[in-house]
Amino acid sequence: MDIRESEQLMDKMIIQGGKKLSGTITINGAKNSAVALLPAAILSDDITTIKNVPNITDIDVLSEIIELLNGKIKHEKDTIIIDSSNIKNATIPKSLSNKLRASYYFMGALLTKYHHVEIYFPGGCNFGARQIDFHLKGFELLGASIEVVDEKFTIHAEHLIGAEINLPFPSVGATINLMLAATKAEGTTIINNAAEEPEIINVADFLKEMGADITGAGTKTIKICGVKELKSATIEVIPDRIEAGTYIIAGALMGDNLKISNINPNHLEALLDTLKKMNIDYTLNDKDIIISQATNAKAIDIKTEVYPGFPTDLAQPICVLLLKAHGISHVEETIYQKRLGHVEYLNKMEANIKINESTEEIKGPVTLHGTNVQASDLRAGATLFLAALTTNEETSITNIEYILRGYEKIVKKLSDVGANIRIETIE
Ligand code: EPU
Repeated sequence: MDIRESEQLMDKMIIQGGKKLSGTITINGAKNSAVALLPAAILSDDITTIKNVPNITDIDVLSEIIELLNGKIKHEKDTIIIDSSNIKNATIPKSLSNKLRASYYFMGALLTKYHHVEIYFPGGCNFGARQIDFHLKGFELLGASIEVVDEKFTIHAEHLIGAEINLPFPSVGATINLMLAATKAEGTTIINNAAEEPEIINVADFLKEMGADITGAGTKTIKICGVKELKSATIEVIPDRIEAGTYIIAGALMGDNLKISNINPNHLEALLDTLKKMNIDYTLNDKDIIISQATNAKAIDIKTEVYPGFPTDLAQPICVLLLKAHGISHVEETIYQKRLGHVEYLNKMEANIKINESTEEIKGPVTLHGTNVQASDLRAGATLFLAALTTNEETSITNIEYILRGYEKIVKKLSDVGANIRIETIE
């Protein structure tokens, strides 16, 4: 743990709830796109520019890894310019790789560029086993051999040769990692049962602009014909659909014409359909949505699915809205079996959520009460700050380093629309 992380562990978020939210919250670039675009940038032998990058801690760690690989990074507001012309291969140490999940994208990137990778097991939010076996099996199909000693992966290929890869499940991480690995492999790679999330299209667009030959990103089958050289490119990170979804839920809970701007409504269809079915109104424009506190929301059953289904990353936050709806709702989490760390603390705030395997039963409406709670992972933390906004008391949230990983300038964004929120250092 570095100094910055230990400092955040000492911080807590204090929210005095009950304030109406009005004005505009502007959404930043998507975390889960940006964390793949930075590792992708090292494939170029030139300068690449990534615009609309969120200012979150994961990006700092990825920048550190690129500097360790001898890349040069310049930050200009929310633009990052990466000079990869002198990149050199190096071992990525545990102290960096275990700070975030997305460090695994350096596996695909370094493998295709140097045919050799040394890196430790990635970190990330802890909600049950998060295997990377699909990534590794795909690298092997491309001709790599893999050795694992004490959590250190050495991945090596004399020749990296295109192959047909059938993913057992449309994993976001495996799809992006294998797309990176195939970019400079000899011949053609086909990824079947690929994930279709918008973040995958964003990464493919960046690689294509560098000169990669990729078709089908955003569909179930991606075809990559290897190229020899990748040049300079510019890409803009797509809006963060999960940050947007979280603040849309905040609007349905406490909004008074709260506007969420810089969104892509096409990426939010599953959430917006769910709100409609819950009898929650909103005004949707090309790039923004206006939403107010819902007074007559209906209970609903939700099942998480891969894109374009209801996203697992919003399954925890939407529980707060279901607690305000009339009737009994169910949320079935199908992607991660143990992504339920929010339930204990919502119940401490006087919800009465029951868990049956991976399904929550949520009875509403209930009045939540402020107390001391703890973020167990990023979206559990988001769930708790949403819950805190609805109470008429003070809530104190610890472990907020998880929240700060995904919600840029959260205190400013929420204060600017009327919330009473601050971060304090624990003495
Ligand atoms: N899986 C395997 N083996 C693999 C890869 C995945 O068994 O090799 C399983 C996982 O254990 C999980 C499922 O497949 O049960 C889905 O995993 P996926 O690979 O799709 O997830 P990920 O790439 O690790 C990304 C996001 C997550 C988001 C998921 C699903 C990043 C860095 N992370 O994770 O984001 O929940 O896709 O959409 O892009 C978050 O933002 O809060 C977050 C956790």
